[in-house]
Amino acid sequence: MSPPGTPAQHAVGLLGLGIHLPERVMTNDEWAERIDTSDEWIVSRTGIRTRRIAGEEESTADLALAAARAALADGAFEPADIDEIVLATDTPEVFIPDTSPYVQDRLGVGHIPCYDLAGSGCAGFVLALDIARSRAISHGHRVLVIGVELLTRLMNWEDRNTCVLFGDAAGAAVVGPGPDAVEIVAATAGTDGSKSDILGVEAGGTRVPITVERARQGLHKHVVMQGREVFREAVSRMSQASHEVLEKAGVPIDDVALVVPHQANLRILNAVARRLQVPQERVFINVQKYGNTGSASVPLALWEAREQGRIEPGDLVLLTAFGAGFHWAALLLRF
Ligand code: ACO
Repeated sequence: MSPPGTPAQHAVGLLGLGIHLPERVMTNDEWAERIDTSDEWIVSRTGIRTRRIAGEEESTADLALAAARAALADGAFEPADIDEIVLATDTPEVFIPDTSPYVQDRLGVGHIPCYDLAGSGCAGFVLALDIARSRAISHGHRVLVIGVELLTRLMNWEDRNTCVLFGDAAGAAVVGPGPDAVEIVAATAGTDGSKSDILGVEAGGTRVPITVERARQGLHKHVVMQGREVFREAVSRMSQASHEVLEKAGVPIDDVALVVPHQANLRILNAVARRLQVPQERVFINVQKYGNTGSASVPLALWEAREQGRIEPGDLVLLTAFGAGFHWAALLLRF
């Protein structure tokens, strides 16, 4: 552990990366057996072919813990090396407290500060990386950042407009100062609260409390969205955030070896690539295998890109994400 309050001496960035996927794979044909949809419709409108579904006995902290352990092992860290945890999720373990304390206890990291970015949607992990970077610079902290979702628990399994889009997964990164860190070169983020009702869960808080009638309708546990508006905003904000972060870093898009966007929908990813004028082979895509895994999607894609040898030492990699809020964030990494 670094001495408390010691500012970073080295470049700050990623020191370890890990993921966890539930075992069960669900195909589009399985959805077609349950609701009025087809493999052809889902593939042509979204690019998604399969998604992972957490087992009934699994909860958010289970997936988060497994990804956290994988990230620690990847960086050759022990739990005692971690100074802080920040966890992004829309599908918490329980309503109160937040999910990170459950992970802290089971990981055995001691009584370090832990907190959640709750409900920040699919942009949560990238936003959390930026916050972790600030804490590493100001405090010298090594921060465990986790993006985890059991989004299939937050779906109306009879609403074909939403249920086929999502999947369950977790990803984690250790962020801190280090001579071999994958440097976080620049970051940007933004929010448009005027669009907060376009994507979300309608009931369950103080504004629309749960009543028996609302609970009967499932309003407290089902994501609803205006798909076309979300589509438009996702393309526009992920492109805008990418331009902003490149401008901050003084880097032209042609110098970026790989763009790793939030995996919402293949058509969204293709539209972002067109706007950025980046050829498709420089955009990493795995939405076909996992669907939209919310805040787990960027670490899952980044991890797979690295595993597949898509990233070389020295490469600049651009992360960009968008989700409920609306929130968006982008970050430039140097491997
Ligand atoms: N199977 C068959 N038909 C379907 C399905 C389905 N699973 N879902 C919707 N349809 C039908 C609709 O009912 C509609 O029928 P209608 O014309 O008879 O009313 C028809 O398909 C066309 O619907 P559209 O909304 O025009 O379809 P679109 O091409 O816009 O695709 C989609 C819908 C995939 C939801 C798209 O709007 C989208 O991807 N939006 C972004 C949503 C998203 O990614 N949300 C994730 C959370 S936020 C984030 O991660 C960025």
